[in-house]
Amino acid sequence: MQSNLHSKLHVGIIMDGNGRWATRRGLSRLRGHQAGVEAIRRVMEAAPEQGIGTLTLFAFSSDNWRRPRSEVSALMGLFRSYLVNEVKGLVDNGIRLTLIGRRDRLPDGLAETIERAEAATAAGDALALRIAVDYSARDTIVNAAVRAGGLQSCSRETFSDLITGSKLRDVDLIIRTSGERRLSDFLLWESAYAELYFTDRMWPDFDANDLADAMASFHGRERRFGGLPSMKPDVSISA
Ligand code: IPE
Ligand code: IPE
Ligand code: MG
Repeated sequence: MQSNLHSKLHVGIIMDGNGRWATRRGLSRLRGHQAGVEAIRRVMEAAPEQGIGTLTLFAFSSDNWRRPRSEVSALMGLFRSYLVNEVKGLVDNGIRLTLIGRRDRLPDGLAETIERAEAATAAGDALALRIAVDYSARDTIVNAAVRAGGLQSCSRETFSDLITGSKLRDVDLIIRTSGERRLSDFLLWESAYAELYFTDRMWPDFDANDLADAMASFHGRERRFGGLPSMKPDVSISA
């Protein structure tokens, strides 16, 4: 990861509510997922000016395989067309795309399409866009623990590298849309000190103003990382 991006914020988004958004409009759930792609475009374009260097989007969880086969295959088709159609826009915006999650259970050819999109966007330095597909935070932690198995001991930093496969900034802010207030197995390790922001907005309606609202909420919070609130200069410690 480029160091200039590492010094900027890492925001994770659980893009939820596509199905309800569509159902309320009498549309198929697939239409909701298609509208969700538009929201991804809006947010990735707005992210750099919000001080975001890394954006991790939860698109398909390892538990989403439980959904009806027709919805799963429609989603896989959508990922494929996204990867093919968006590359030019990503390159034009200086966005480096990587996918996180398992690739061995994806439909034929999708892993190769992912590799091509990653290679084509590798020089992007305005935003690291990470899309989580067939992703489970608990699986990444288990896999890292297996890899660390031979070590006598393992620092948090070393274990983090085993989880993410690279130097990755911890998550600063998690946003979840659609009114749900849970993490659903997203970035559990990396979010140890993340601020959490929940909005009732459905993902297909989420736009640059919603992102700005979330960032304003984030900037209004005091992060302490287990320490004490920063003391004002005129405050003295007395026994
Ligand atoms: C999020 O929207 C996208 C995926 C999980 C693929 P949902 O499909 O979960 O939408 P709701 O929660 O059913 O409304
Ligand atoms: C989490 O949403 C996964 C994604 C947004 C991709 P879900 O809709 O699958 O989560 P639950 O089942 O409501 O917890
Ligand atoms: Mg959902």
